[in-house]
Amino acid sequence: MDTHVDERKNELIEYMEKTKKQSHPESCLIAILHKAQQLYGYLSKEVMDEVATTMNIPTAHIWGVATFYHYFNLAPQGAHTIYVCLGTACFVKGAGKVLDAVKEELKISVGETTPDNLFSLRETRCLGACGLAPVIMVDDKMYGELTPKKAVEILRSYKK
Ligand code: FES
Repeated sequence: MDTHVDERKNELIEYMEKTKKQSHPESCLIAILHKAQQLYGYLSKEVMDEVATTMNIPTAHIWGVATFYHYFNLAPQGAHTIYVCLGTACFVKGAGKVLDAVKEELKISVGETTPDNLFSLRETRCLGACGLAPVIMVDDKMYGELTPKKAVEILRSYKK
């Protein structure tokens, strides 16, 4: 048995027990799912079942909340997450072509992770940097005034 896995599970259960005493289970669900994602990197079915049992909330409801908010990951994520902005300003300035170039370079679609687990690809709405459109974000680093070629060069720099 992987002791690291047990430690994470214990930490999550401890967090849920503590949170449960402070507020109504439904109202602290988002905070709990955040904690679970922080610990595991994503929300697996097993983790959602654990939350359901401890919090006495139906799994279907937890699943509904997890799928509603785009910042919850439902599958394992790569070491780096790429967010391609498809907000209006970025789209007008060629974000679609940037996205195509990224997909082509990584050979994956939006929502997927590369087989080497290095990159996950996501699309997003306005990142608040329209003046630099088109924009992508890799983890928490923003890159602007992109061309498809520049975007590919940025991704390759993460492979080194
Ligand atoms: S639309 Fe892309 S940063 Fe605003």
